Amino acid sequence: MLRGRRVFLRALTPADYELLNRWEADAEIKNLVGEDRLNGQWPRSNRRLDLAILLAGHQLIGRVSLEEISWRARTAELKIVIGPREFWGQGYGRESIQTLVGHFFSTGKLRRIYLRVYRDNRRAIRCYEQCGFEKEGYLQSESRDGFRELILMSLEQQETA
Ligand SMILES: CC(C)(COP(=O)(O)OP(=O)(O)OC[C@H]1O[C@@H](n2cnc3c(N)ncnc32)[C@H](O)[C@@H]1OP(=O)(O)O)[C@@H](O)C(=O)NCCC(=O)NCCS
Repeated sequence: MLRGRRVFLRALTPADYELLNRWEADAEIKNLVGEDRLNGQWPRSNRRLDLAILLAGHQLIGRVSLEEISWRARTAELKIVIGPREFWGQGYGRESIQTLVGHFFSTGKLRRIYLRVYRDNRRAIRCYEQCGFEKEGYLQSESRDGFRELILMSLEQQETA
């Protein structure tokens, strides 16, 4: 269990899947994240970590995940979805990411976290920038509707002397 100021993160349980899958089936969320980049299933693997985002009253509001984890290279890809719109833009995303990143960097388990975000997902980009992620480059992603541009962003653990 990881604690932020207003949120806490804990491992997903099967009881969370229905709500998360309902949110992730929503057309607006699919468009923001990319249909093929959402889960639908929650496989357990040493290469991924899915955490539920909860408010103080234990209300589930979303999930934050590390995928493609390389424990040897100490790198992982971050994904995050906050489901209910009324919780967007209130700093919960930022707090969840900072809590997760803070844990993995301070314990030395990871040294680089990267993510991909659609160029037109301005709220998400702003959130990631506020967490310290920097743009590294642009990728073309092909979908049913043609090509869309993704931005690759990353955050590195700061070396302390
Ligand atoms: C992306 C997401 C995780 C961000 O979490 P959040 O709690 O909404 O974001 P935060 O409030 O921490 O930060 C958002 C920032 O964008 C700003 N913002 C909000 N709406 C915005 C908009 N429409 N355009 C530009 N900036 C916007 C906020 O003011 C805030 O910036 P600030 O800290 O300078 O005020 C969340 O919105 C979400 O899950 N969205 C749906 C799914 C999604 O897009 N996932 C990411 C896929 S890569």
